[in-house]
Amino acid sequence: MYQFVQAPFLYSDLEEGKFQSILLAEKQLIVLKKKEQLFAFAATCPHAGAHFCDAWIDASDRLVCPLHKYRFDLSNGRNTSGEGYKLKIYPIKIEENTIFIGIW
Ligand code: FES
Repeated sequence: MYQFVQAPFLYSDLEEGKFQSILLAEKQLIVLKKKEQLFAFAATCPHAGAHFCDAWIDASDRLVCPLHKYRFDLSNGRNTSGEGYKLKIYPIKIEENTIFIGIW
């Protein structure tokens, strides 16, 4: 079961498409605003641990790991390029302008 923890920034502070790396409740995460939607996911790749600070979003809105180019669906963490890894995704809720991320 997860517990929502307040993020150290506001929704309005986030820039569209910018990978925001944070340490929250001892978890290293990336928060990304994409098309006005927020995503929070593990900061390192489940394959070989590359940091996602240099990752990017492809034309199909998938996260692309910078090391071996595996691709992940940010809505569910599924490894859409087929290698069988799962990206850890954290639930997010926004109240007014404040962001809460579900940590477990
Ligand atoms: S470390 Fe990310 S695809 Fe290999």
